[in-house]
Amino acid sequence: MAGGEALISNVSDTARWVATYRAMETAREDALFRDPLAERLAGERGYAMVAAASRMMRDGWPVVTRTTIIDDLIATALAEGCDRVLNLAAGLDTRPYRLELPADFVWVEADLPALTAEKEAALADEKPRCALIRRGVDLADPAASAKFLDWALGSLGPENGTATKALVLTEGLLMYLEEDTVRTIAAALSRPQIRWWVMDVTMEMPRMRSNSMFENAPLRFEPHNGIAYFEELGWHAREIEHLLVHARKLHRAPWYLRPFTYLPQPDPRKPGRSPWSGIVRFERGSGSELAVL
Ligand SMILES: C[S@@+](CC[C@H](N)C(=O)[O-])C[C@H]1O[C@@H](n2cnc3c(N)ncnc32)[C@H](O)[C@@H]1O
Repeated sequence: MAGGEALISNVSDTARWVATYRAMETAREDALFRDPLAERLAGERGYAMVAAASRMMRDGWPVVTRTTIIDDLIATALAEGCDRVLNLAAGLDTRPYRLELPADFVWVEADLPALTAEKEAALADEKPRCALIRRGVDLADPAASAKFLDWALGSLGPENGTATKALVLTEGLLMYLEEDTVRTIAAALSRPQIRWWVMDVTMEMPRMRSNSMFENAPLRFEPHNGIAYFEELGWHAREIEHLLVHARKLHRAPWYLRPFTYLPQPDPRKPGRSPWSGIVRFERGSGSELAVL
């Protein structure tokens, strides 16, 4: 960057990086989703990050696949009666502007205050498809996080009641947190109003760790026992999507990784030294009706 400024100067800059992949997908004729606001939100800096990313990440297949899977999981939860979405660390995500959502559906976004203010200003002239509310909050601060959840699950206006079947999304967040913080968040989310927790589980961080671009947004959390980590905290895996296998089905897996998708895949509960990355919809309450897709 001009003046020697780091491409990623803090963790919030990673939001530009992933928004760029959504913009790149949107520009394809065969796009899996269309996110027309992504290009503007990503800005030149986002594209510079993509250019500096490792070969494995440069075409963005993990982000594109993750976005597509999560779009589908949200649609499934809506069909199952989900009455609110809390997108924690929403970054520059624009789902409330592009998904088919009822106009009175309540969608709450949280992210660090500076990023939230920037997004609010950038999208001031855009109209979301549902009732969208944003809050700046440091989710690593347990008191602030608990206060935010109390508010976000409550009655947010005269026209809506409290949430009874909320879905919480932490997409691209947990890896940047300390393990203690992840545990605290998992406990804070254990509330009767929250039914589902959708997240990406990533156990392939050495590649990203070795890229100096991330030195100001260090990668910290990686669950040693995969999704079992969250099951031990009381969350039952409802759907488990293996990222690379799903990418192949979507015609987004790079050619040099495709052969691996036909091999037996590691157990997401005991990945051992094999890398496993996927998207999981966890559920609280009723026992696990597990579907490995
Ligand atoms: C890789 S981006 C993902 C953004 C978005 N979920 C997406 O997938 O496009 C990581 C996001 O986590 C947010 N974040 C990191 N630590 C946070 C914290 N302690 N509290 C709130 N947000 C945080 C960053 O600001 C950034 O927007």
